Amino acid sequence: MRSLYLLLFILVISCKTNPEPEIISESKPVLGVIEKNAMVVSAREEASKIGKNILQKGGNVFDAMVATEMALAVSYPYAGNLGGGGFMVYRKANGETGAIDYREKAPLAAFKDMYLDENGDPIPEKSQLGSLAVGVPGTVAGIFEVHKKFGTLSIKELLTPVVELAKKGYVITENQGKRLNHFRELFIETNKDTILYAKEIKANDTVKNPMLAETLERIIENGRDEFYQGETAKKMVNYIQSQGGIITMEDLSKYEAKWREPVKFTYKNLNVISMSPPSSGGVCLAQIMKMIEPYELGIYGHNSLKSIQIITEAERRAYADRSFYLGDPDFVKIPVDTLISESYLSGRMKDFDLEKATLSSDLSYGSIPGYESSETTHYSIIDQFGNAISVTTTLNGAYGSKLYVPELGFFLNNEMDDFSAKPGTPNMFGLLGAEANSISPEKRMLSSMTPTLVEKDGKLWMSVGTPGGSTIITSVLQTILNVKEYGMTMQDAVNAPRFHHQWLPDVVVFEPNSFNKNILDSLKSKGYKINEEASRIIGKVDGILVLPDGSLEGGADKRGDDMAVGF
Ligand code: GLY
Repeated sequence: MRSLYLLLFILVISCKTNPEPEIISESKPVLGVIEKNAMVVSAREEASKIGKNILQKGGNVFDAMVATEMALAVSYPYAGNLGGGGFMVYRKANGETGAIDYREKAPLAAFKDMYLDENGDPIPEKSQLGSLAVGVPGTVAGIFEVHKKFGTLSIKELLTPVVELAKKGYVITENQGKRLNHFRELFIETNKDTILYAKEIKANDTVKNPMLAETLERIIENGRDEFYQGETAKKMVNYIQSQGGIITMEDLSKYEAKWREPVKFTYKNLNVISMSPPSSGGVCLAQIMKMIEPYELGIYGHNSLKSIQIITEAERRAYADRSFYLGDPDFVKIPVDTLISESYLSGRMKDFDLEKATLSSDLSYGSIPGYESSETTHYSIIDQFGNAISVTTTLNGAYGSKLYVPELGFFLNNEMDDFSAKPGTPNMFGLLGAEANSISPEKRMLSSMTPTLVEKDGKLWMSVGTPGGSTIITSVLQTILNVKEYGMTMQDAVNAPRFHHQWLPDVVVFEPNSFNKNILDSLKSKGYKINEEASRIIGKVDGILVLPDGSLEGGADKRGDDMAVGF
């Protein structure tokens, strides 16, 4: 794998604008699933198939979003959810773009120092485990808002297959069996009782979730209000409060999903459309891509010394800005235009030196005149009409707060940990935050989720995204570069080895046993601190690429059970 993409390019010297490197690969490129009309790629076969069936029934990408999101809640409780939140970026066939934010919010009773002890130090368990970690969930509001604006089939048509899945059950994969086993004790400890997922569940078992089926049936019957004001809301609030939580009926009834303007920027002949705050994804991705744009990464080669250095240094600078400037745009003023402007970013890279690493301790956020884990999940859908979406949704940690409402059949998020509990102290992803991401009632916590769509020469080209907490942004970045700069197929692009840097800690993390040892040694000699051993998976990317003949290539990351299906 290490030398899969050999650094041999035939450079056409005379071609001065946007030279597309021609790759000569040692081994044959691997293509993902190719289909003519439509494609769904998600973390679970059942969810991808339910989404595809909706499209085949004549539904559009937004109908498929509603069904896929809920099917993931049934079959991928690790991150799929009713009790969490997410973001969707869309591009309609006519070129119109937009985004929706259904991120969780802090409850009304939340306050800035709620996770600090008497000495003013953070108590991580409080923001990560159990009832106090839960933010007001946004997912159900999100799917209903999408459906109201763009849906063509009824909610009943969209959710009935999901109810059937919950009733008939889904088959546990090897990965799921291992994870459930790993978290079982914590489920029991957190819920102080046994729950569906606290049973011994192993690979190939079928898990039925009748309580979730009933919850979904009530949602079909009573609509969005069922979740935010109805029986489901009451059961959820009673359960959270019985476990010491602070979410009230008022919190639920006040929740609204919000349409947002996506972050848009160019990279060579690509137009990138990505998620705006309260996700840091789009801004950070824009900063990194604009900082690396002047360099010929395609010529330096995939995962070559120079490419790794340039990308790492751009990431270092972008994550330093993230930690200072970014937060909920409804609460803090974010200088987005400046942060992604060429003049600002070229200044940020001025002190970059190929001979030696910049020390993160020598670098802070840039001066402007005038502020996560693999437990999220992503899906990409392109429909037969040419509409595209990119959606990332999450409970934050694995199975969120581990708090599971037995009567409703779902886990609740621990998204409150994405706030900066104490500015300057890292969260579960090691990310630092400042005042812009401090806790306030009704504020949305900063995210790294980066659902992204890319146009090439003005036409839809890619839908891409990933889980991975703080590594989301850098995984999306590398996947786009893998296709654009290194000529990979979508499948190879999502499978290729990745690395990650986020300013602090001042370490570059590499997927183990995937990088050239000489390159890692050269990086060390230039002052980079390398971590190859303890690396968790860096992203689990799903994407769809529109091929030159208009057909679609689905790339489902080999790191998970992800699956691309289409027709
Ligand atoms: N909870 C992970 C993220 O939103 O970035």
